[in-house]
Amino acid sequence: MSYCLVTGGAGFIGGHLAEGLLQRGHQVRILDDFATGVWTNVHAVQAHVTQAGLPCPLDVIDGSILDPQALATAMRGIDYVFHQAALPSVVFSVQEPLLSNRVNVEGTLTVLLAARDAGVRRVIYAGSSAAYGDHPELPQRETHPTHPLSPYALAKLTGEEYCRLCTELYQVETVTLRYFNVFGPRQNPNSPYAAVIPKFILAALRHEPILVYGDGAQSRDFTYVDNIVHGNVLAMTAPEVAGQVLNLADGSRTTLLQLIAAIEALTQQPVQVQFFEARVGDVRHSQADVSRAKALLGFEPPVNLEQGLQHTLAYYQQHLAAY
Ligand SMILES: NC(=O)c1ccc[n+]([C@@H]2O[C@H](COP(=O)([O-])OP(=O)(O)OC[C@H]3O[C@@H](n4cnc5c(N)ncnc54)[C@H](O)[C@@H]3O)[C@@H](O)[C@H]2O)c1
Repeated sequence: MSYCLVTGGAGFIGGHLAEGLLQRGHQVRILDDFATGVWTNVHAVQAHVTQAGLPCPLDVIDGSILDPQALATAMRGIDYVFHQAALPSVVFSVQEPLLSNRVNVEGTLTVLLAARDAGVRRVIYAGSSAAYGDHPELPQRETHPTHPLSPYALAKLTGEEYCRLCTELYQVETVTLRYFNVFGPRQNPNSPYAAVIPKFILAALRHEPILVYGDGAQSRDFTYVDNIVHGNVLAMTAPEVAGQVLNLADGSRTTLLQLIAAIEALTQQPVQVQFFEARVGDVRHSQADVSRAKALLGFEPPVNLEQGLQHTLAYYQQHLAAY
């Protein structure tokens, strides 16, 4: 059993990670300022773990990663830090680049320095495929040049570089996991910056048109959230990953039109699609090469796209009224 800190644990991925760590018998603390995270995520984690008959040693600190004092308190006794806290929207970062930079860059550096001072064993950082930008060669490999297209992407990439630097300068073990498009239950479909899958599923369930920006032929490497939790757990103890960057994804590519067809098949209802002009800063195609994560972590995504969509659809069907 280890002591784990999940920054951003009231968010979508952080909440699933906290749950996954508790289910594996670890003690978990969350640090979150609820900028985009919500208490209902925390309560859902507590309820699932308790329902499974497990003790729920979940400790929640309402505080910011920009506050060194809150971080020093949160890091006390911690073995592993899973740094998920961020302002994760591309669109928001284009509108508010300074705030995006502050939380995503300065916040990450503050987390790393606090981890150094607390002597934690390893920091596992949530990187982003946004770092690749519109690099045309697919699948995207960690050796490809980066070309961030938004302040968010640049900030996430800068966070990776701070991880590497802190490993080299201060011997803080870090590993960056570059997530691609993550989806699953509890992802906020109502935010103006929401990811496509919860938005599309909710529109389908409400018999509303699905809104597509661009022609729908753009593709993404959609990854079910349990796969991301699995990769993070492997990254806790994998040897020889200090200072490394690893793609964490499904390794496949699905266009938005294929995704809509899959949702149609699962709901067994035709959906209406409305097309709008493509958004500035959106990349055309994205697909991960996951061979480095396979080699260094032994990573194989346990849940495929169809199974992930089924779980996600079932969740939103059950919680439709709450959204
Ligand atoms: N969702 C994806 O597809 C995806 C893809 C690539 C990378 N990521 C990365 O994964 C991480 C989690 O993303 P998510 O989709 O769960 O987003 P989310 O918005 O649901 O979670 C982010 C959490 O960070 C918290 N937070 C923000 N500012 C904070 C601060 N100053 N102090 C403490 N907490 C703060 C928010 O309140 C929220 O709970 C982020 O680092 C994001 O960049 C996500």
